[in-house]
Amino acid sequence: MKNIPQTIGIIMDGNGRWAKAKGLPRTAGHKQGADTIRTVALAANDLGVKKLILYAFSTENWKRPDDEVGYLCKLPGIFFARYIKELMENGIRVTFAGELERFPKDTQEVIQKAVLQTKDNPGLELCIAINYGSRREILLAMQKYAKDVASGNRENDITEEEVSNYLFVKEDVDLMIRTSGELRISNYLLWQIAYAELIFTPVAWPDFDRECLEQCIEEYNRRDRRYGGLTK
Ligand code: IPE
Ligand code: IPE
Ligand code: MG
Repeated sequence: MKNIPQTIGIIMDGNGRWAKAKGLPRTAGHKQGADTIRTVALAANDLGVKKLILYAFSTENWKRPDDEVGYLCKLPGIFFARYIKELMENGIRVTFAGELERFPKDTQEVIQKAVLQTKDNPGLELCIAINYGSRREILLAMQKYAKDVASGNRENDITEEEVSNYLFVKEDVDLMIRTSGELRISNYLLWQIAYAELIFTPVAWPDFDRECLEQCIEEYNRRDRRYGGLTK
């Protein structure tokens, strides 16, 4: 494929509806969705994508019933126990975006362990956005900036690039995909998607696969990214 987006963000939506349609509990959708993470990460790595940022848990998802939140907290442990070996073999580096502190200690530990274990891998950066919300990210950045200015650590002026450096996710997103038909951004990477190409697919996240990713990248290649200028 010609032009591979360097940074892809995905809103992994539709796990619950996928399960419901099969007469299964919502958690079954989340479990299948975790397997899709493996499939899509391996595919993105093979294609030469630099960074894949997956929305796994939003700052708003705490509103869900306790048993669902509890299951989602266990999922990183299940995922890494099953797939960390394969991630290592493929040179994939795990990172995260968001505030881990609110999760149970063991959830925090499995994530930190995966980050540490994979930190020198040269391939795809697989960034899991967890307890992530874009407004919260911007708020924390502003607080940190104000503190740095007040303590004399920096001048009271700032460039766009420096704003990015205060965020959890510092890269611009080239391609943003949302699965399962909803046409909204749900507080995801608001600063970073300023010039992203947006693709909304009806496919539920548990059914999303390598071919779906390739189709999205083909669609991305058909877009004319003008950045406010004119077509060459
Ligand atoms: C996405 O699937 C996973 C998370 C938000 C954690 P949903 O759980 O939102 O599934 P739907 O949208 O209810 O089908
Ligand atoms: C967005 O999906 C969050 C994640 C995929 C983690 P939601 O299902 O929570 O979003 P809304 O509620 O439909 O906006
Ligand atoms: Mg949803």
